[in-house]
Amino acid sequence: MGQPVNVGVVGCGAISAQYFQTIDRLPQLRLVAVADLDLDRAREAVRPYAGVDVLSVAELMADPRVDVVLNLTVPAAHAEVALQAIAAGKDVYCEKPLAATAADAARVLEAAAAARVRVGCAPDTVLGTGTQTARNAIDDGLIGSPIAATATMMTPGHERWHPNPDFYYVPGGGPLLDMGPYYISSLVTLLGPVASVIGAASRTRPKRTIGSGPRQGEEIPVLVDTHVTGVLVHASGALSTLVMSFDGVATKAPNIEVHGEKGSLVVPDPNRFDGPVLISGPDGWRELPESAGYVGAGRGVGLLDFAATPVDQNVGQQLRAGGSLAFHVLDVMESLLAAAGSGTAVTVTSTCERPRPVALHPSVS
Ligand SMILES: NC(=O)c1ccc[n+]([C@@H]2O[C@H](COP(=O)([O-])OP(=O)(O)OC[C@H]3O[C@@H](n4cnc5c(N)ncnc54)[C@H](O)[C@@H]3O)[C@@H](O)[C@H]2O)c1
Repeated sequence: MGQPVNVGVVGCGAISAQYFQTIDRLPQLRLVAVADLDLDRAREAVRPYAGVDVLSVAELMADPRVDVVLNLTVPAAHAEVALQAIAAGKDVYCEKPLAATAADAARVLEAAAAARVRVGCAPDTVLGTGTQTARNAIDDGLIGSPIAATATMMTPGHERWHPNPDFYYVPGGGPLLDMGPYYISSLVTLLGPVASVIGAASRTRPKRTIGSGPRQGEEIPVLVDTHVTGVLVHASGALSTLVMSFDGVATKAPNIEVHGEKGSLVVPDPNRFDGPVLISGPDGWRELPESAGYVGAGRGVGLLDFAATPVDQNVGQQLRAGGSLAFHVLDVMESLLAAAGSGTAVTVTSTCERPRPVALHPSVS
């Protein structure tokens, strides 16, 4: 193994601890510096880790040790922070969605291409054994030619547990832009890119109440649709039916099912790395053994995959958790909201390669 890749993190909020744990246990990655608008939050977040510098955002961008900027800010800041990293000549790996709008995401990818740096993006959960084993089953022909999929995410909303849930209810948030990246990245991994969409959306109430933390009881405005449904028409002809909701209470529907001419698959939660993959058969459902994907992965394994992808496969196109897939997923989501608004089908103008499969990879825990 060569030198570890030095990581500088911008944004030390709720999700950062999971990344710090993953980076800490992977010898290929080294956390060298963190930054946040709230420096006290940054200091607190890296307290368990020795030798990590707490810097201003400008200092982190200028730090010659930092090879890749891990952008864990809120969606509305993703593009601005990514552009700062690119201007500093650094690779950048963003939390999802790649930006709050496809136009902002396009500016990020254009700037990265001009600067010849790489853009990676969450979710990396779809590189785990759950989605990858299902993909392997499809590629091996176990369900025949895929015809359709269903994807269901139903929750009353993240304000129940997140102490600062404002970003979930402004543009760049909502159930589709927040959770859609997991489901649509998984559907593109399973069935390939999306060519067009139809949709419908609704919003139940204008305010939400924070359910935990120092701001418990505070009301926040809702500026986005909170129940979004639609059909994704894949370029292959397969049809995926999507339900993404912050308005429902609960569901027993599988997160994702894929139906082929010969059989059906239950695909585990794409917001997790693993979980049982079930296949239908003459005697009912049976579980498939894990056959592909990173075993025992945690958030940040996409950064490992990013760092391990040879640089001569520039720029982003060949990355699994890469800018090209993330841009297409964002474009699909924006097209779906446009379709819901207009009541007509919308052509998705972007496309991407179906990401390369992940072979069964020894435990990264
Ligand atoms: N919370 C989760 O469970 C979760 C899970 C998966 C993905 N994510 C994604 O991770 C990202 C962050 O989510 P979170 O829950 O950690 O949010 P958060 O609000 O808890 O933390 C975001 C942090 O970014 C900082 N920040 C915002 N703008 C900044 C800027 N311009 N420069 C520097 N720092 C800035 C904030 O001060 C804050 O500390 C989002 O894109 C979210 O979709 C969150």
